[in-house]
Amino acid sequence: MTTSVRVAAVGDLHCTRTSEGAFQPLFAKIGESADVLVLCGDLTDYGTPEEARVLAKELGATKLPKLAVLGNHDFESAAADEVSRILTDAAGVSVLDGTATEVHGVGFAGAKGFAGGFGVRALQSWGEGPVKAFVAAAVEETLKLESALARLRTRGRVALLHYAPIGATVDGEPLEIYPFLGSSRLEEPINRYRPDVVFHGHAHRGQLEGATSAGVPVYNVALPLLRRRFPELQPFRVVEVAIGDEPSEHGAGAPAAGARA
Ligand SMILES: [Fe+2]
Ligand SMILES: [Fe+2]
Repeated sequence: MTTSVRVAAVGDLHCTRTSEGAFQPLFAKIGESADVLVLCGDLTDYGTPEEARVLAKELGATKLPKLAVLGNHDFESAAADEVSRILTDAAGVSVLDGTATEVHGVGFAGAKGFAGGFGVRALQSWGEGPVKAFVAAAVEETLKLESALARLRTRGRVALLHYAPIGATVDGEPLEIYPFLGSSRLEEPINRYRPDVVFHGHAHRGQLEGATSAGVPVYNVALPLLRRRFPELQPFRVVEVAIGDEPSEHGAGAPAAGARA
């Protein structure tokens, strides 16, 4: 009987209209190494339907169930809905946006997240209207993540984000852009609902691993970061998530880097 599910994760593909063929070896290797694929945003480079169609074709290299959240780049051309629709219709990707789904007995909750910074230095809702609107966007994404996590009833549970929920996986980036790489507002529902693992992207020069203040493992799976840290391997991580009837506090195993190219 299967007791765990191998979840492969990668983000920040930044697929362009000339990327045809570029991701097929990656997705083929993931197909041999995991049971489900999750994509952590910045799926496209400029958020165009054309780029989404190229990516959908690339994803045809694997038959695995596929889940995703969008990233900021996927919004650049104001066509995020169409990008989602193409990926869903042409490649079977379930795009999560404050929603949850179950695959092979594992629950997945996803939201894009947003920026605002970390800890006591995080941007507060104070002063000018645009500042309040910026913070409100982070609060809204946090509520989306919370409502998605609240729906999960499985023992094994995974949270997907594009933006970082903790500062630890952003370390290494230029200090000046830390507040634009994530928001620790996102950490609160994660600590409350304690998924087995959190995956995010967006911080291309951050750290591979961290944990929330409650000990929930957080993996930055931004493709450029994985490529730099594992130059010999295909850029993805695999985490085994235990499945069963009872919610577990420590269902996730140690992550493995991508299989050799
Ligand atoms: Fe990115
Ligand atoms: Fe991003």
